Amino acid sequence: MNVSHLECAACGLHHEAQRLHNLCHECGKPLFVRYDLDRAKRTFTKESLSRRRTDLWRYREVLPVRNDEHIVSLGEGWTPLLHLRRLGRRLGMPRLYVKDESQNPTQSFKARGMSTAVSMARELGVRKLAAPSAGNAGGALAAYAAPAGLECFVFMPKDTPRANIVECEQTGAHVTLMDGLITDCGAEVAKRKDSEDWFDVSTMKEPYRVEGKKTLGYELAEQLDWKLPDVIIYPTGGGTGLIGMWKAFDEMEQMGWLEGKRPRMVTVQAEGCAPIVRAFAAGKRFADEFPNAETVASGLRVPRAIGDFLILDAIRASGGTAVTVSDKQLLAATREIGAIEGLFCAPEGAACLPALRKLLESGEVKPNEQVVLFNTGAGVKYVESFTGITL
Ligand SMILES: Cc1ncc(COP(=O)(O)O)c(C=O)c1O
Ligand SMILES: [Zn+2]
Repeated sequence: MNVSHLECAACGLHHEAQRLHNLCHECGKPLFVRYDLDRAKRTFTKESLSRRRTDLWRYREVLPVRNDEHIVSLGEGWTPLLHLRRLGRRLGMPRLYVKDESQNPTQSFKARGMSTAVSMARELGVRKLAAPSAGNAGGALAAYAAPAGLECFVFMPKDTPRANIVECEQTGAHVTLMDGLITDCGAEVAKRKDSEDWFDVSTMKEPYRVEGKKTLGYELAEQLDWKLPDVIIYPTGGGTGLIGMWKAFDEMEQMGWLEGKRPRMVTVQAEGCAPIVRAFAAGKRFADEFPNAETVASGLRVPRAIGDFLILDAIRASGGTAVTVSDKQLLAATREIGAIEGLFCAPEGAACLPALRKLLESGEVKPNEQVVLFNTGAGVKYVESFTGITL
């Protein structure tokens, strides 16, 4: 167990590990888990990794959970990094890759964060979990809560893709559908959690989901032989994956594992909900709530993110940028990637392609650079968006 303490990502205040926390007790911002990396390094070596389990728990020394018996795992992580040769040829890019997160349990990258968060909740004696969700997080939370024997309450907007709702129900969660957005669902959880005795597992409002997500960064480095790509393009809602990868790069740098520069981090959002892109363009550190948020990419329908400053700090520190794409573009991209590469991406993941085209046109990405797109989920969960049918 190498966790030394939890630290507020904004004010730096230390919080005791192995206690239940949501946000910083002083300033109400997210908490990060900090490790004794010198201690971790004694057993955590690059060479040792080839002999380890093929899920995210291969990075055991830099993950929370004291007792292995508390780990709740369905085989999450260690997803393929696929070379997009045909799409790359079309774009004149020989080094274009996709990290295919649709191959996780529950078919999205949300499985990573929920494996670590539910494991920690179990270790710390929680009985009931609750979270607002745009869809995939709810499905993952329900799936991990089940084998942990924890009760699970998921709040989703009414227009969440049907598959996400059904999978939550079929894996034993109590589902409440709400008029409004994920922020309204989050407010409902916040209002009721004390009287209902729920532990709030909202994105960035507890310290452990980001620990699971950070393994995206470890995996990318390992799969690319410890040389990170030039550019990462990531569809951003609450931003946990991007924040997590940036944290992983910090840790790996501290352990002396990385050669060369860090990637430029690019946030992609939908035109109809782009709070981070707006704040980036305006030079702000915090993002204003985006009014009337609307996009078929439900995971990007996040008008306000508590980790906004962490996303924006990482983009800027990396020399990256933030771009929007239209719903028309991201839906067309789903079909384009499907037809040329055989990957049926979630619309959020497909949004990376029109974003990349924009950056190639503006010259912010060069054709010879190594670029990794993140396909965060499976297109099959969104059938109604592609077929226009009401399910
Ligand atoms: C498929 C998909 N992609 C991207 C996102 C956004 O993820 P994050 O909140 O980590 O930015 C979500 C969130 O619901 C999602 O379901
Ligand atoms: Zn604080």
